[in-house]
Amino acid sequence: MDTISIQLQLTRHSGTDNFSVEEQMLIKAAHEALSSAYAPYSQFQVGAALLLEDGSIVKGSNQENAAYPSGLCAERVAFFSAGSQHPGKKIMAAAVTTSYPMEHPISPCGACRQVMAEYELKQQTPIKLLLCSHDGSVIVVNNSRDLLPLYFSGEWLKK
Ligand code: THU
Repeated sequence: MDTISIQLQLTRHSGTDNFSVEEQMLIKAAHEALSSAYAPYSQFQVGAALLLEDGSIVKGSNQENAAYPSGLCAERVAFFSAGSQHPGKKIMAAAVTTSYPMEHPISPCGACRQVMAEYELKQQTPIKLLLCSHDGSVIVVNNSRDLLPLYFSGEWLKK
């Protein structure tokens, strides 16, 4: 029997003072995206913003539906927008935030982690995640794939 330990490295920041101007703008954009959230069922608004390699920003927010599973998280709205509106442009970083007064920074769901892992794999460069908290603190994950060990890979579908 082998025991395998998986480590996740992240950094927690009490504010954004040490972040680059682009990263600060990205976090602001994620907050702005909250205003377009459509969350009448959960009342849990989520905003996401992606920084592309040319410096442009793509925003997304959660979009719910009366047929609950038809709704989509803010992260996937943003990633799929970037993938369809800016094909071929690398995603450098993603900021995610919520208006909900949680003690902890928002953390993407499993489905969003899977989607982010695949975009990262496709572009072959890391996507840095900035997970924002209501109190202004931010958790930084340098490589979005780290959030989903043993993610499912399209490699296995090619056989
Ligand atoms: N949600 C997101 O948009 N992103 C997350 O990281 C977690 C959850 C949304 C889905 C749903 O509209 C609402 O938050 C409550 O689950």
